[in-house]
Amino acid sequence: MRTDTLPTISRHDYQPYPYQIEKVRLEFDLAAEQTLVRLAFRASSRDGQIRPLVLDGEDIELLEVSINGVALTAQDYQLDEQGLTLSPQTAEFDLVLVSRCRPQDNTMLMGLYVSGKNLFTQCEAQGFRRITFFPDRPDIMSRYEVVLRGDAKLYPYLLSNGNLLESTTLDDGRTQAIWEDPFPKPSYLFALVAGDFDVREREIKKANGQPALLQVYCDRGDGDKTEWAMECLEHSVRWDEQRFGLELDLDRFMIVAARDFNMGAMENKGLNIFNAAYVLADAQSTTDASFHAVEAVIGHEYFHNWTGNRVTCRDWFQLSLKEGLTVFRDQEFSADMLAQGLDGAQAASARAVKRIDDVSVLRAAQFPEDAGPMAHPIRPESYQEISNFYTATIYEKGAEVIRMQHTLLGEENFQAGIREYFKRHDGQAVTCDDFVDSMDSVYRQAKPGQSLEQFRRWYQQAGTPRVQVSLQHDPAAQTATLTLRQSNAPAGIENKSTPKPPLHIPFALGMLDQQGTPLTLHLDGQQGDTLVLDFTETEQSWTFTQIPEAPVLSLLRNFSAPVRVDYYRPDSELALLARHDTDPFARWEAAQLLATRLILSSASGRTPSAAQLATVVQTWHALVQDPALSPAYKARILSLPSERELLEQTKPMTPRTVVQARRQLQRELGLALTPYWQELYQYLSLEQAPYSPDALQAGQRSLRNLALNYLLVAGVNTGPQLARNQYDQATNMTDRMGALSALVNYGDEEDRQDGLDDFFQRWQDNPLVLDRWFSLQATAPSTQVAQVRALMLHPAFSMRNPNRARSLIFQFCMNNMQAVHTPEGYAFWAEQVIALDKLNPEISARLARVFDNWARFEPEARDQLKAALERIQAEPGLSGNVAEIVHKALT
Ligand code: ARG
Ligand code: ZN
Repeated sequence: MRTDTLPTISRHDYQPYPYQIEKVRLEFDLAAEQTLVRLAFRASSRDGQIRPLVLDGEDIELLEVSINGVALTAQDYQLDEQGLTLSPQTAEFDLVLVSRCRPQDNTMLMGLYVSGKNLFTQCEAQGFRRITFFPDRPDIMSRYEVVLRGDAKLYPYLLSNGNLLESTTLDDGRTQAIWEDPFPKPSYLFALVAGDFDVREREIKKANGQPALLQVYCDRGDGDKTEWAMECLEHSVRWDEQRFGLELDLDRFMIVAARDFNMGAMENKGLNIFNAAYVLADAQSTTDASFHAVEAVIGHEYFHNWTGNRVTCRDWFQLSLKEGLTVFRDQEFSADMLAQGLDGAQAASARAVKRIDDVSVLRAAQFPEDAGPMAHPIRPESYQEISNFYTATIYEKGAEVIRMQHTLLGEENFQAGIREYFKRHDGQAVTCDDFVDSMDSVYRQAKPGQSLEQFRRWYQQAGTPRVQVSLQHDPAAQTATLTLRQSNAPAGIENKSTPKPPLHIPFALGMLDQQGTPLTLHLDGQQGDTLVLDFTETEQSWTFTQIPEAPVLSLLRNFSAPVRVDYYRPDSELALLARHDTDPFARWEAAQLLATRLILSSASGRTPSAAQLATVVQTWHALVQDPALSPAYKARILSLPSERELLEQTKPMTPRTVVQARRQLQRELGLALTPYWQELYQYLSLEQAPYSPDALQAGQRSLRNLALNYLLVAGVNTGPQLARNQYDQATNMTDRMGALSALVNYGDEEDRQDGLDDFFQRWQDNPLVLDRWFSLQATAPSTQVAQVRALMLHPAFSMRNPNRARSLIFQFCMNNMQAVHTPEGYAFWAEQVIALDKLNPEISARLARVFDNWARFEPEARDQLKAALERIQAEPGLSGNVAEIVHKALT
């Protein structure tokens, strides 16, 4: 932790490292209290010149260092908080270094740390320097040999990257394991694990006929909860072979679950380390949504083996090179899994469900980021603390930027671009430009005269572009002229005078006639139901022919670009689209927009007209009865936009009125359609096939829970009994949790307390389920700061476990708008940022970000939040992580 502000690092300052390190040998004498690390490598100067050797090192103790066998003394080197600088006498030399770290004291969970009784590492982005002194940067790629020694009882498993060469018992009774990773890798992909585990194994045959061993490790006693993870891992291997032609390049692939983990998971070569929340799953204790999250994260980390590990990032400004691409890949993996076995409109609707969920995440997390002080391009220009840049922009918007390239090239050419990328760069540390170059080489061939040159601006500009739409219909000529205008206002700390030239936006659109029948579009010899326009100018027009009457526009189909669309049109048009659009994404969007308009107008104090409300009710009425919709899709289209998405669209932001207005519409829909919710609920309660998280069952459960919520929120008198029965009779966590959350959020005090007590009794020994128990209370409308404080004193609460801190404190601050947007709420937030910072700055900085957008709130909230931020800033010994966020927020 540092008290001074960190220096700003700029993308343009990149300098290659003067030395190459081909091979690294690491020896560990492992123990929780203190671990000794012996590092040996040969460094050779890239240009033959003798230069200082600068090694990063943080929070570790240097015990010995020698060059070419000669021990150095303190006069021979410079050692400070940041690391070690040596002055070698030759351009090539052997270095040996012994250092000590203290895993038990490592509450940051970066570097080598203890979780339960086991030892784990987390090195991305800059954790390796907390293990040993090293050039801890992604462009130093070396082959690692790793020797692990540890107590045989405590650490029966000693794991590292690559292949196990030998495992022996030493004279002193300890175990020693030697691992060798055949692939050169940067230090951030190094990993070790020591501990005792349950192990699930599966032998598979790769596409090339070779066998591979898949292993999933977890805490003893949890072994029966790893079947799904293993299933997902095998699916991931198959999917990457089939869709991307990429094979597993290892004989052994390991996943290890850790209880304490800062993020979701980590793609260390051959040894992925996961937050247990993304590994463990069974019907009893895990919701459908979590089953799908496990699938997505296992896919994500596995896909990194090629997009991230075989080809990695030259520097951390290129983070989206691997993250955006890999999120795109995991999104497609999940979509393909949902659409498996379906075709035509059914497959499209299954994929649309995934697209809807992904776009909702983008809008709830990335749009606000782009509108706040931390706004940055997917390839940032500068940063102070890299761990603050594992953001929704790098990941989710990064994935959208890859997806747009996929849209522009089409699947076949996109895959050709991927092949070109690996042909050019396998084994290298490269840049986002290198990736686009590969795609561009294929694009230029496929579309002579065009290129991705302008497209690259997506890597340079922050902010969410706006697209304004206007339409002119000429009945005499039977033409419709569409005009699009794009703008992208300065975002975050972007200089207001920096020009933002127009982006290359693939804009997908369709049209319906006034009866809702889809029109075939005709444009300059092109023809189709959906056309993708190359929108490249600030203002641009297209004239469609053979359109006798004014059409209804279906805009930005499948969300073809991460932009906001402004188009003024009557509610009746949205209602028509919500019923008839053939693009399932745009159809959902139309329904959302209809509800959004109503909620936002009542949030701003205008009472919606009876006609406006009637349009929404009639639309919901038609949708709830539509037999053609899949249950999963129906659940999405009948849900109201989230509070966060709605809040984002108010100016200034008025959280409490948004929550009330949303709740009001929920109630109206619950009341107006009561018989339909009841009927839907009963119908979906009939069949009870053995549990599976598949799309059909999960869809049915989510729709049933939605119906239950509408009944409870509307105060329908049969509601609570239905919920109590569902809770008692549940055979899976989705049903149990659905019922409990309905009772906790909308039930009476007695139901709430009974439910929570019973749930605690049942699940107190399962930490992941207990997290849900905390979250549920954190977000309940009846919860105030005082209850959260009381829960923090519960014996099961701990600030040190990131999942637990997130489940209570983050959930309260992010998702209990009524209670957190109060003077006590803000004070609580600031207090917790400060408290967490002393333990885990990376996590604390994420909490600090919750209100970095303070300036967009209504005046009273704004002043209070600003004061809270200033309180944080004034705290002595603040970490660089939090300091960066607070500083940017207050600038
Ligand atoms: N590369 C990992 C993933 O996307 C995330 C690691 C982030 N680590 C961190 N300390 N911020 O799967
Ligand atoms: Zn990733």
